[in-house]
Amino acid sequence: MVGTTQDITETKRLEVELLHVKDKTENEERRRLARNIHDGIIQRLQALLLGLNTRIAAAHNGDIFTPEILEETCQDLAGVIQQLRDLSTDLHPEFLDRMTLHDAIFFMCDKLERQSGIEIFVRIGLKLEDLGMVVKRNCYFIFQEAVTNAIKHSRCTLIKVSLEKCCSQTMLIIISDNGQGFDMEEVKSKKDGIGLSIIRERVTRMQGKVDYCSTPGDGTTLTLRIPYNDPNLAC
Ligand SMILES: Nc1ncnc2c1ncn2[C@@H]1O[C@H](COP(=O)(O)OP(=O)(O)O)[C@@H](O)[C@H]1O
Ligand SMILES: [Mg+2]
Repeated sequence: MVGTTQDITETKRLEVELLHVKDKTENEERRRLARNIHDGIIQRLQALLLGLNTRIAAAHNGDIFTPEILEETCQDLAGVIQQLRDLSTDLHPEFLDRMTLHDAIFFMCDKLERQSGIEIFVRIGLKLEDLGMVVKRNCYFIFQEAVTNAIKHSRCTLIKVSLEKCCSQTMLIIISDNGQGFDMEEVKSKKDGIGLSIIRERVTRMQGKVDYCSTPGDGTTLTLRIPYNDPNLAC
């Protein structure tokens, strides 16, 4: 009887902890989204508006809008629309609803490889047809953040991404690069980026484990162990 009460208390404590983590992740993601919109899209639109206002003032003084000026403005606008499209895809990649995690990772890595010119080697040794949506989305965003970090920060020439079965009902995800690495303590003390903490929080939400191994000058390896609890999932 005592054991049962303790179990219930422990379950309740874990539930509260998970809710707290979920809340924190969502807040941080909202902050990042706001920063993206502010630093990217709003700044570009403001520059465009400023340019147009200057042209209008000049037009009042007799200058004319040449086709070249209008073309330039259209190009700038098209750039902002593309940025909004990318943001919308990042927020809710529609294809994730239709694709398996396997296909979505190949699709994303292919796109990032073409954009960055950095080779990305992908190996997936698990059938992932029946993976639950929550695990699928969390894993997808973790892959995206880790590969983007390697591209953005590491100056690497090769990124390796793998997903295998580790032991019963647990998948092993490894994302590594041969770049310059970084000092984890230094990054923690600066507290500017939130990508790494969002990875940690997503992993905690899935009740998994995460290990970051990075030393300055010697590349970075991110290792994750995620339980997937799906009896249909086979090697
Ligand atoms: N693969 C990596 N190689 C080198 N440095 C990295 C890597 N991943 C993360 N970092 C370092 O950790 C910092 C924090 O990363 P993150 O929390 O994702 O924030 P952000 O990407 O927005 O800077 C980065 O600014 C970078 O200095
Ligand atoms: Mg990042």
